[in-house]
Amino acid sequence: MPASQPFSYDKLFAKNSQVSTRAPSRHAKYDFAVAYPDPDNLPLEGLVESLQTALEREGRDLAYYPEVNGLASLREWVAEKLARDRNMKLTADDVVLTAGSGEAISMVIQALTDPGDVCLTEEYVYLGTMRQMRRFGSEVVSVKCDDQGFISSDLRATLKKLTGQGKKVKYVYTIPSFQNPLGWSMSLPRRKELLTITKEYGVPVFEDDCYWDLRFEGEDVTSIHSLDETGQVVYCGSFSKILAPGMRLGYLVAPKGLLERALSFKAGGGVNQFAALAVDEYVRHHLHEHVDVQNEALIVKRDAMLAALGENFGGIAKWRVPKGGLYMWVTFPEGTDMAAMQETAFNEGVGYYNGSQFSPEGRGKNCIRLCFGHPDAKTNYDGVTELARIMERHGVMPAG
Ligand SMILES: Cc1ncc(COP(=O)(O)O)c(C=O)c1O
Repeated sequence: MPASQPFSYDKLFAKNSQVSTRAPSRHAKYDFAVAYPDPDNLPLEGLVESLQTALEREGRDLAYYPEVNGLASLREWVAEKLARDRNMKLTADDVVLTAGSGEAISMVIQALTDPGDVCLTEEYVYLGTMRQMRRFGSEVVSVKCDDQGFISSDLRATLKKLTGQGKKVKYVYTIPSFQNPLGWSMSLPRRKELLTITKEYGVPVFEDDCYWDLRFEGEDVTSIHSLDETGQVVYCGSFSKILAPGMRLGYLVAPKGLLERALSFKAGGGVNQFAALAVDEYVRHHLHEHVDVQNEALIVKRDAMLAALGENFGGIAKWRVPKGGLYMWVTFPEGTDMAAMQETAFNEGVGYYNGSQFSPEGRGKNCIRLCFGHPDAKTNYDGVTELARIMERHGVMPAG
């Protein structure tokens, strides 16, 4: 072989390897596609000060490789936070720090999935989780929802049907607080019913609670984890939504046996100790205040988006007012193809994701998810107005 010929790996790839479909992020002028926080609200000064304080105190520990389950003091803080905020009974030993909650999700999926296993999700579900479920061979099946959460009769019927077909349902994954992409929170009765029904079928619940802190209004509902005493609930959370995704820090809480298995899929040792030290110091002193400021800003952004939706799509589309989180779910009349419009809208300045991207069955082309957290209020208002102009220009605006 001539020396200039590129080396070929084609015959060497593992059967389980795949080409990554993750493309670099693209940003439209009005960027409502991905849920970034507002760069103006990042607590950069506080993080720098916290890092300095922590490094002066513990910086010499960076000479060691971190513990695989992550910085002990931050795990303790997480355990205290979850006990205080989510009524969970746990200790630092029940917590593993992860590279964002995305890694926690991937670890649990790998620990529980054989190809062909089934996992259940809400009717529309966070793309990153669905991608991981499929990556490891799961069949992803959705359960019908209303704005209280899973419709219990459909959950029971789905479990009955799948188990009747001899399929193994490994877990029910849920985002019960300010669901991504639908925006609602699961009511307490539905949380209890979810536990009762899944218990009948011996299926665990995987509770992804990364939006819980972003509440603007309404009553809090206790975690699903707190309603169970048997270890049936696996729980994950994240610092991405309350600090910044760039920190890449999240956490997993699971019963010992599952945690040990999940840890075996953690690559590269414990989480970045440098980031963990800064976050540990920061959250202890400033997190509450920061989350309050962030939520105040989010209300204004949400309301600006709502105003533009009302002015441009009132009587045409439907949406619910999210009481927290980052997402507005907008449903156009059946037949409005917002999937076909997506690339055109992006090229003309407005980025969004259409419903079919979040649906395990590819439904929801007439729906879109708009993230209101990153742009400022005026940009939210102008961008939604611009979307209406684009739809009119291309003749896809439904009649009011
Ligand atoms: C529901 C849900 N879970 C998990 C994640 C992953 O976030 P991270 O890995 O940054 O913690 C996201 C990100 O948007 C999300 O929406």
